Amino acid sequence: MKQERMTITKQRMLAPRIYEMTLSGALVQEMTTPGQFLHIRVPDDAFLLRRPISISWIDQESQSCRIIYRTEGEGTKRFAHLQSGDQLDVLGPLGNGFHIEDLQKDETVFIVGGGIGVPPLYELSKQLVAKGVRTIHFLGFASSEVMYYEKAFQALGDTRIATDDGTYGVQGNVGNLLLAADSKPAAVFACGNNGLLKTVEQLFQDCPNVQLSLESRMACGIGACYACVCHKADDPTGTKSVKVCDEGPVFQAGKVVI
Ligand code: FES
Repeated sequence: MKQERMTITKQRMLAPRIYEMTLSGALVQEMTTPGQFLHIRVPDDAFLLRRPISISWIDQESQSCRIIYRTEGEGTKRFAHLQSGDQLDVLGPLGNGFHIEDLQKDETVFIVGGGIGVPPLYELSKQLVAKGVRTIHFLGFASSEVMYYEKAFQALGDTRIATDDGTYGVQGNVGNLLLAADSKPAAVFACGNNGLLKTVEQLFQDCPNVQLSLESRMACGIGACYACVCHKADDPTGTKSVKVCDEGPVFQAGKVVI
């Protein structure tokens, strides 16, 4: 983990309230594992807490990375007003990402995401495809209006989309797509809200490698404040917890109570 003032080289709106920002700087050299996140200071002293945002694309050659975020409050709205050439105080990369070392060429994996949980899955799929792994993407959005990156995922592998309102792809949630899947994956990777993660955990109980990236509110982002705890699954007392920011955000299915 390092801290750096990274330079914004591009910012564009992908969908209403959803932005893609490209950042460049030496910090990119530290970014190797998909699923990690950056903790970014809002460029205004009125905001004390950094905002955790997952890394969606890494390019070592140009020392660039991308983040995709949705404007939720005043802090993230400040990010949306920034332009190419502006700088951001970035801490990272943080957290434990997805483990892909054990996957072999020609194996098939399922990559499952919903809404603003989709971004880190893009870099994950990119790295898996580079290893020769076959990726099938199952992505859910509220509607076609807030859908993004469909073509980018299509370029990496088979991509199936569900929208809550049926304006694109299959109507319903990602669970509907997964129930219709006809192959058995060597691994499943998921990122999204707890409902999506629970569905994945239940549907793939027989799969030996299911990795879930949890969404959590955070404060320090480095394991010091306990703002992001969730309970361990193998603890009958219900008192043992893990910190999503530095022990996660990615956990093997069954390790934590979702
Ligand atoms: Fe502070 Fe996780 S956000 S411990």
